[in-house]
Amino acid sequence: MPFNDRFLRACRREPVDRTPVWIMRQAGRYLPEYQAIRRELDFLTLCKTPEKAAEVTIQPLDILGVDAAILFSDILIPLEPLGVGVRFEEKKGPVLEAPDLDLARVRALPVPDPVETVPFVLDTIRVLRRELVDRVPLIGFTGAPFTLASYIVEGGTSRDFMKLKRLLFEQPDVAHALLEKLADTVALYLSAQIEAGAQAVQIFDTWAGQLSKRDYATFAGPYVRRVIEQLPREGVPVMHYVNGSASILEEMAALGSDGISLDWRQSLAEARERLGPDVTVQGNLDPATLYLPPEQIEERVAEVLDEAGDAPGHIFNLGHGIFRDTPVPHAQHLVECVHRLSAERHGR
Ligand code: CP3
Repeated sequence: MPFNDRFLRACRREPVDRTPVWIMRQAGRYLPEYQAIRRELDFLTLCKTPEKAAEVTIQPLDILGVDAAILFSDILIPLEPLGVGVRFEEKKGPVLEAPDLDLARVRALPVPDPVETVPFVLDTIRVLRRELVDRVPLIGFTGAPFTLASYIVEGGTSRDFMKLKRLLFEQPDVAHALLEKLADTVALYLSAQIEAGAQAVQIFDTWAGQLSKRDYATFAGPYVRRVIEQLPREGVPVMHYVNGSASILEEMAALGSDGISLDWRQSLAEARERLGPDVTVQGNLDPATLYLPPEQIEERVAEVLDEAGDAPGHIFNLGHGIFRDTPVPHAQHLVECVHRLSAERHGR
């Protein structure tokens, strides 16, 4: 089989034989093959062991037949070198411990050199590029400054982001200093991933949809722009994801990425109309639809493909990460449906 470049072609808005598809969180606990490796290694150790991280990155390619691989790691990995303690608890998810944030301390933080502090991420990418040469492209990724700040300030996942919003509004100078530091940290981190061989990158600003349009333009958007501006991105597409982005699409599109990854609450057709032909869109099936019986999954796939229309520049994905109790045959069926139904639409 020749190298499958339909994901990269769709990023560049070139014609494709079938709509490319990959799944956010495609490597993970819904796969028994992943669980088997996790019985031997805890999550952080797995992220820090390149041969094993590469192995779980490849699992969904073999099991589902997706058109891209995404580096197995986590958005919280580059925070440890900033002095933030990170652990993952079975029930609670991530738990972070940051020192007290005052202006002097935040300003004094170094911008960590990824080659020294997270060499395992770069090694995983190098292993993967060797193993994927004749298969599919490799996507690198980072969390965006706002979303990373939310984990640092909240100490984990949050429902209302009370602590973070209190910091934004009561101590905006500290908030901006932190966001700046995070922007420069992840810009260097993502640049190192590109140098190590990542062929596309995705910036996850998962929680930025919690902000009003006005506050997005103050606390989230500008820091994503600051990251994108620093990337050595010749030929490396940049995708940008926010969960709950319907009200800020135009603002996101103005930040310099090549494409926008959409959640399921907005109409893909409407989003394409608002964004115009020069932006690639990715998405946007509700991850919960994978609980439906297979025939209904097929109908939902057809609806997304219809909404995406004939213009080039659509990558099929879920609107957020796949759920941990998703039936694997349903995920396999999803990928098969995207390929089969889109081949008819692309006229082959
Ligand atoms: O397959 C892939 O998509 C690549 C690997 C990947 C992981 N996390 C692995 C992971 C990626 C791209 C991420 C991104 C990530 N991590 C985001 C942004 C995307 C999104 O889903 O919104 C966020 C917000 C996180 C933070 C995070 N990491 C949480 C909230 C959790 C716990 C909840 C959960 O889903 O498990 C994690 C842990 C995590 N990251 C796991 C995996 C496979 C589960 C760890 C385990 O095996 O127990």
